[in-house]
Amino acid sequence: MGATALVLAAGEGTRMKSDLPKVAHSILGVPMVNYVVDAAREAGCDRVVAVTGHGAEAVERLLSGVECVRQDRQLGTGHAVMCAREVLDDSGSLLVLSGDSPLIRAETIAALVAAREESGAAVGVLTAHLGDPTGYGRIVRDSDGGVCAIVEQNDCTHAQCAIDEVNTGTYCFDAAALFAHVDRLHTDNAQGEFYLTDMVSLFVAEGLGVIAIAVDDPLETLGVNSRVQLAEATKILQHRMNERHMLAGVTMTDPNLVWIGPRVEIGRDTEILPMTFLMGETHIGAGVTLGPDTRVIDSVVADSASVDSSIVIGSEVGPGATVGPVAYLRPGVVLGRKAKAGTCVEIKNSKVGEGSKVPHLSYIGDATIGADVNVGAGSITCNYDGFRKHETVIEDGAFIGSDTMLVAPIRIGAGAVTAAASAISRDVKPGSLAIERSDQREIEGWAVRRRAGGGAPKDGQTEREGE
Ligand code: UD1
Ligand code: CA
Repeated sequence: MGATALVLAAGEGTRMKSDLPKVAHSILGVPMVNYVVDAAREAGCDRVVAVTGHGAEAVERLLSGVECVRQDRQLGTGHAVMCAREVLDDSGSLLVLSGDSPLIRAETIAALVAAREESGAAVGVLTAHLGDPTGYGRIVRDSDGGVCAIVEQNDCTHAQCAIDEVNTGTYCFDAAALFAHVDRLHTDNAQGEFYLTDMVSLFVAEGLGVIAIAVDDPLETLGVNSRVQLAEATKILQHRMNERHMLAGVTMTDPNLVWIGPRVEIGRDTEILPMTFLMGETHIGAGVTLGPDTRVIDSVVADSASVDSSIVIGSEVGPGATVGPVAYLRPGVVLGRKAKAGTCVEIKNSKVGEGSKVPHLSYIGDATIGADVNVGAGSITCNYDGFRKHETVIEDGAFIGSDTMLVAPIRIGAGAVTAAASAISRDVKPGSLAIERSDQREIEGWAVRRRAGGGAPKDGQTEREGE
């Protein structure tokens, strides 16, 4: 498809009551405007241009790879198109999309372009029949049923308000016709803006063709103007994503309690339990179990792994590995095949080798752990000296006793053992035992005497050994 898409994204979005430009608000972790750009690309548009203005820097940062044109003062949708004129071709099809209508589908865009090109009309307007058309521009038809105008809500007569066919804000123009007449737009209306919608009556007056294409699914055209509509759009996209994954072989106990972003891939026979969020660029393998109460962001979870009641960010969970319950994998973790990050374990920027286990109550940071290592309960890497982070290396087959403090930088050799409750601050050779622990004392009968005395010794001092 040779069409160019122009995405209007310069408006402030006053009704959002936000410091963030409207189109930068996210749905399932992705800013609204990106959904529109992605749909245009997926429809086959060979060029996508965005008009930015309000909060332009913030919006342009979201649009890497998209050409942006500035509209310094937001004088209306018609004015936004005028601003982009200098960079656009004046022939072929020009799609105009609203950056605040994130539910639009690629197929709908492609069908609109095809219908306009077949008909030779100056514009094809995508319309929808809504139960409640409040807030949208209304499609006014003449007695023969032909479209003759779009009238904005604030400019509607009482009778026009009752029209249930609305303008979705998605158009395919014949660029030549558009640019031949766009200068004739005016601001003689309720909002004092240049309305792009007035192109319809201008074309009709010139005897040029105007066609309306009604969308099959009106949900697709929801414009997000308020936080209430943002939540509505989120719900609809949540449903759409979940349905796609379920139809592709993913089980969800309750799809109302699963949120999956648009850039997430999931393999077959994966099961997703309630209160699970999968966001960002995330790849989930086949036969994985996720949740309940789990967040996976910008991560890879390989086949047959499981993540229970945990958070995984910017990390890789290897095949058959297990995470949780209540583990926190922070950016840069690579958990090997069949490795384990267990209960109340935090790991950051570390590699945990194949079959190695960190089962309980540990903090592992900036570490490289080999294969088949066991890290006992409560063990931690002391990786930060208050100024810098230091590395810990634990070689294959080492056994870290419970409550070991590994004071980095440090290397524990292959097959070495550290004794429980040791603070290990010097490298340990392969095969050695490192123990750092004071001798145990035993005071015979002490507990019996204490109970007989009705509590602690009378002078408040602990009785000393041998006294
Ligand atoms: C617009 C349509 C309305 C339609 C509705 C569908 C006009 C005049 N009205 O109304 O018929 O039913 O969309 O959702 O077009 N924008 C700019 N520059 C501007 C003004 C707006 O880039 O100067 C952008 C906004 O960022 C937004 C889009 O254009 O992405 C639509 O603007 P908005 O103000 O939301 O128009 P609506 O009142 O919703
Ligand atoms: Ca809007």
